[in-house]
Amino acid sequence: MTIPFIDLQAQRLRLGGRIEAAVQDAVVGGAWVMGPQVREFEADLAAFGQAKHALGCANGTDALALPLMAWGVGRGDAVFVPSFTFAATAEIVPWFDAEPVFIDIDATTYNMDPGHLEAAIEATLKEGRLTPRLVIAVDLFGQPADYPALKAICDRYGLKLVADSAQGFGCTLDGEHPLKWADITTTSFFPAKPLGCYGDGGAVLTNDDDLAQLIDSIRVHGKAVARDMEGRSFDHDPKYLNMRIGLNSRLDTIQAAVLIEKLKVFGEEITWRNRIAARYNEGLRPHVAAVPDVPAGSVSNWAQYTIEHPDRERLAVHLKDQGVPTAVYYPIPLHLQPAYQTYPRGPQGLPVTEAKSAVVISLPMHADLDEATQDRVIAAVASFKG
Ligand SMILES: Cc1ncc(COP(=O)(O)O)c(C=O)c1O
Repeated sequence: MTIPFIDLQAQRLRLGGRIEAAVQDAVVGGAWVMGPQVREFEADLAAFGQAKHALGCANGTDALALPLMAWGVGRGDAVFVPSFTFAATAEIVPWFDAEPVFIDIDATTYNMDPGHLEAAIEATLKEGRLTPRLVIAVDLFGQPADYPALKAICDRYGLKLVADSAQGFGCTLDGEHPLKWADITTTSFFPAKPLGCYGDGGAVLTNDDDLAQLIDSIRVHGKAVARDMEGRSFDHDPKYLNMRIGLNSRLDTIQAAVLIEKLKVFGEEITWRNRIAARYNEGLRPHVAAVPDVPAGSVSNWAQYTIEHPDRERLAVHLKDQGVPTAVYYPIPLHLQPAYQTYPRGPQGLPVTEAKSAVVISLPMHADLDEATQDRVIAAVASFKG
């Protein structure tokens, strides 16, 4: 029997009908767009993420686009992004005619290498074609990026810092969420994410009052918000006073209702995920080239449990034969993808990204992974004669 890669039904059953009841309440309540559950979830999310403001939106890709719109990123701007990430991190940059500049990663954490970032900013300034505007760091596989180092660089060059925590939401560094360093954290509630809903969803978190207002406006077609009403009167729904170009990017009430229930157990689930990852590390270390290494002080949410193996394609076939699914995140780094290969890269190239993309392979990981199933995965890896 094939085991699930991520077992979301196990979580649903563990929650004992609470999610179904919450969905039913949202349906009966009838406020299906921007209903009270959205506001309630935003308050809960802000509290969890130690943020002044949390705003829901339609997905994690829009969550990245919203601050770029708020800051007016546009033609001639450079946005520094890792290449070892999901396409969404870079995709939103050309939406606004700006250019992503691809930066290499650290070999242990798979996250943006601060040294490479600084070299790329310097090279961009020297070339003079693009203006450095912001950095998007990714908490890949759930592990926080090196925010203290990235923030110091952003401060030195006057750049904004975005934490793309679509995978890593809930991760911490010395007990602090990425928002302690970043101007904004973005996340995704895609079902397979550690905090996922039952469809698409996303959110941004920020401590910046003005940015929160702008994003609240932009996510509803540029509607008027408090800062727009100073010295102005308008006796109608503010969404019919359009102050800026926006879009429609709202979190559905039903999804917010699901997320309210899931957030209640999310902290505990991160603890379980860490226990599962530690057990994997112990069992797998002798059999693979590398098990994940989270630096002291960092807590991952283990969105993925990713090992390295020099013969990963044959390992994947062997595991599949044993009923163990695997996935490769990411087989082709973004700077080598047809859609992105013409965009600039840091001056040192991306040797680490290219090497890692050839050897990484992710194993089943979720909060409900029991020890017997995990032992099956470990035994299957151990039995591979590479
Ligand atoms: C790093 C990263 N950023 C952004 C996104 C986009 O999120 P969504 O699928 O909700 O648009 C994802 C989704 O997988 C992601 O992994």
